[in-house]
Amino acid sequence: MTDAATSTPTSDPVVRVELDGVVAVVTIDRPRALNALSAEVLGELERIFANLSTDAPGTRGVLLVGAGGRAFVAGADIRAMSSLGPAEAAELARLGHRAAAAIEALPVPVIACVDGFALGGGLEIALACDVIYATDASQFGQPEVHLGLVPGFGGTVRLPRAVGLARAKELIYTGRRIGIDEAVDSGLVVRRFPDRDALLDGARKTVEQIAANSASAVGIAKRVLVDAAGRPTDAASALEIGGFEEAFRTEDMHEGVAAFLEKREPRFT
Ligand code: HXC
Repeated sequence: MTDAATSTPTSDPVVRVELDGVVAVVTIDRPRALNALSAEVLGELERIFANLSTDAPGTRGVLLVGAGGRAFVAGADIRAMSSLGPAEAAELARLGHRAAAAIEALPVPVIACVDGFALGGGLEIALACDVIYATDASQFGQPEVHLGLVPGFGGTVRLPRAVGLARAKELIYTGRRIGIDEAVDSGLVVRRFPDRDALLDGARKTVEQIAANSASAVGIAKRVLVDAAGRPTDAASALEIGGFEEAFRTEDMHEGVAAFLEKREPRFT
């Protein structure tokens, strides 16, 4: 399908961005296909997350959501994948990895707000976000083996980090779907909410809490956390030491420490 071979945007935006104060809401908007990730969606995600700091410098947190109320994302677009050869499939996987990397490279936290299905590539994109919040109606899984496929947008890398290697293997080998109870118990989902409104409200409140802190400190912390993941202890520790040193070069660090000593609220820049 041409959709899988290119990421040229069509007339209807498949990913929308709305700015609301310190919060940016990025919506994957293909509800008729349960927000399946076409190459166009992935290209737009990569572009939007790569440019967000420049386009919306006041943003302190991003909510990534799926449109339509049935799914966050039901996976990579199976119809578009059906006509790909191996080299094109690898190119699609690379595109998904670039979109995930752009989410991780953004210096502000990204909350995946899952309401409904987060399957396959959809779960993989959620895993590239900093945390996953979800409604009670949500279901998660890596069903690729049911299609003769394997995860291709980072599931074998990030799912073990989120839930542990053995649990990730069991989920990937069986392809089974899990509900909210198991998703919370396994650590995949950080907070659960009864419905979509409560989910978005809770995620906004988290961004507001983050926005009260130093933007540079949160950005350094995110970069160290992302870069250190999966590295040996000494290499990860070196990254943390580098981040701690970097914080001492920021105005916010001097302001935050001075404010504590002067018993007043900090005024971060
Ligand atoms: C394309 C999809 C889709 C997908 C759903 N649709 N998932 N289209 N790609 N991943 C479409 C259906 O074809 C259908 O369109 C419409 O969305 C509604 O879906 P239904 O199946 O009718 O809904 P329902 O019966 O409620 O079942 C929901 C579902 C099921 C359980 C989520 O749709 C499903 O199993 N989807 C596939 C999930 C999956 O296998 N994901 C992993 C994909 S592989 P029409 O036009 O018929 O109404 C992957 C690999 C990532 O993600 C790495 C790649 C490199």
